[in-house]
Amino acid sequence: MRRPLLVANWKMHKDRGEARVYADALRDALTDPELGAGEIVIAPPFTALETLAAALVGSPIALGAQDVSPEAEGAHTGEVSAPMLADLGCKYCIVGHSERRGQHGETSAQVSAKAGALLKAGLRPILCVGETQAQRAAGKTAEIVAEQLQVSLPRIDPPAAGNLVVAYEPIWAIGTGVTATPEQAQEVHALLRKHLRTVFGAEAEKVRLQYGGSVGPGNIQALMSQPDIDGALIGNASLTPETFGQIIANSYLENTSP
Ligand code: PGA
Repeated sequence: MRRPLLVANWKMHKDRGEARVYADALRDALTDPELGAGEIVIAPPFTALETLAAALVGSPIALGAQDVSPEAEGAHTGEVSAPMLADLGCKYCIVGHSERRGQHGETSAQVSAKAGALLKAGLRPILCVGETQAQRAAGKTAEIVAEQLQVSLPRIDPPAAGNLVVAYEPIWAIGTGVTATPEQAQEVHALLRKHLRTVFGAEAEKVRLQYGGSVGPGNIQALMSQPDIDGALIGNASLTPETFGQIIANSYLENTSP
């Protein structure tokens, strides 16, 4: 049984004061013990990590980062390493988000190195893949996503696969209000799982697969009810604690209904 994983990707939003206010509000929204069934993570900008870590002490909410250097230390101006993120209390880190691939020219080979560095430091990578609208229209979704996954995976032995999270984020669904249908998402998730089986064998069943792209309180239940959708990576709708709390509550209801 894979534990559901909901991750708030704040992108370049919120200073330290805003992060503190958000954390308090979300903690209030999560006092219902039933909400402990899933794993909740907030990935703020680097500058709010320490503040958020302090604000989340004693809560079930974990801390994540949005990017990392593949190197552990050295002359790499502007970079932040995996051991530094571990030192701040991060448990997860997003790698290969389409905004980093698109805006910063990040390649799948770099994503693989970053994911490897995270695992070495004891963090769990959330490795993103996804196709553009043009690639989908050309019938190339399966090919593109499988190729991205294959090259982006860290070189690890199968027993370590359970620490990996893969997020399918169709680029046309990110920040657009257009979500993949649960069936479209499941189709790609099943492909990802199949590919993971060829790499990791039976351990592939432990890899959590998230969907991302315009997830909100209204579509989380249907998405999470699919067999290979184990969670969501949430941008815009995670920026207000009430809405993120609603997404968490709705995902839980679906997963535990008889
Ligand atoms: P969105 O972003 O929820 O705003 O579509 C998701 C993401 O980019 O991770």
